[in-house]
Amino acid sequence: MDKGRLFQKLRQEYVRTHPRSEQRFREISNFQIRGGSHNLRLFPPFPFYDSWARGSQIRDLDGHTYVDFWQGHFGNILGHNPPVVLDALAEHFREEGQGLATGFPGIYQGDLAKLILSRMGGGKLRFTTSGTLATMYAIMLARSFTGRDMVLKIGGGWHGAQPYALKGISVFKEGLAEVESAGIPLEMNANLVVSEFNNIPDLEQKFVEYGDRIACLIMEPFIGAGGFLFGEKQYIVRARELTQKYGSVLIFDEVISGFRFHAGPLQSLYGVEADLTVFGKAIGGGMPVSALAGKSKIMELCDPSAPPDKRVKFEGGTFSAHPSCMLAGLRFLEYLIENEDQIYPRLGRLGNLVRTGIEEIFGRQGFNVRCTGKNEDITTHSSVIGVHFLHSNIERFTSPEQVWDPEISDFELSENIFKLAMLMEGFYTFHGFGAISHAHSEQEIKASLEAVERIARQWREHLD
Ligand SMILES: Cc1ncc(COP(=O)(O)O)c(C=O)c1O
Repeated sequence: MDKGRLFQKLRQEYVRTHPRSEQRFREISNFQIRGGSHNLRLFPPFPFYDSWARGSQIRDLDGHTYVDFWQGHFGNILGHNPPVVLDALAEHFREEGQGLATGFPGIYQGDLAKLILSRMGGGKLRFTTSGTLATMYAIMLARSFTGRDMVLKIGGGWHGAQPYALKGISVFKEGLAEVESAGIPLEMNANLVVSEFNNIPDLEQKFVEYGDRIACLIMEPFIGAGGFLFGEKQYIVRARELTQKYGSVLIFDEVISGFRFHAGPLQSLYGVEADLTVFGKAIGGGMPVSALAGKSKIMELCDPSAPPDKRVKFEGGTFSAHPSCMLAGLRFLEYLIENEDQIYPRLGRLGNLVRTGIEEIFGRQGFNVRCTGKNEDITTHSSVIGVHFLHSNIERFTSPEQVWDPEISDFELSENIFKLAMLMEGFYTFHGFGAISHAHSEQEIKASLEAVERIARQWREHLD
């Protein structure tokens, strides 16, 4: 059997076993593009629609229960609907006059801001509602602060669908980063320069070439969508040195990495401090919260008393610092901080078990598989796992360009076929595998590896 036929067979099986989701998809598609609002959730031929989620598990309309390694776009570090958040919210909603948006500052946001800043080197923080908005505001602040126009970003780096950052996310032609969306003003594209992750000479060269024009370097110290890759220590340190030398603002996008590897930002494990840091996902405990934190002298540019030519319209939005979201984030982060020593070492151990397990299992069946999500020089507590089927042997993945290079790895096999095969085994995976939460049991991790074993054996027998 070839890959195409295997995929077709899995799809047929999926369609056969998900009639209610298919019906829902068809109905909804009359009103919504592709049956939903976020393309990543709408995998072909149609997504399943979830009706229940608790801990490690999620159930769909057809009554299938999956062990979920996607966990709310990787934000649900304690699993779905953790009691520590649900109980706090239930009580909050029961109290008279509490719950929904008020349009006033509320009593919780200061505590959440203080808590997050206490895990960093201080500074100031403002909330908004999505990582996309927070990265946009970060870049606007950097441009105002430096008086420069140019944004340097990393190929494969995802900062949300905002105009300053939609370049070189996945498409490279003749080595050049492509703009990834229509509708963006041309001059914005002209001011967006892309460098390769973990490539120190390339980064240095970009600063030599454009240094006095670069307002900011925005990067994920741990690249998420681009393949779950850690920045090498020297690279991250060099990024800090270069931004300092050239007077550019260093923005770390920690929307995925913040509170994922320990109860704080990843940057502190590198011993590097960004000028601005973007948080999202985990800091809301499952509610829509993002934050921009950083040096007071930059953040203060969103104060209405800032000089008019420097003032940045960082208005977090109608729902910014929503009272229930602030409370959810506060209780969630308090829990992570209080239980840091139990949670993160366990997550790291399970992550390692899965990474080595998958490589070994496929290796035994003659497949060359490499798992990403690991850099023990930085942390042994990584619970994130990418799975890559290699065509050619590569010592270690260092950049998204390698992950997407069809000569190096088989992206379709990991992103589509393996995902569907795991789904039919009762496991929802993402980017190869995904992220382990504290709600996943050892038994579930073991069962997921048994599923990988069955798939690897079948593929060995059937794949050409
Ligand atoms: C690293 C990173 N930055 C920014 C974003 C955008 O955040 P949001 O989807 O909350 O707008 C994401 C979303 O996945 C992300 O992974």
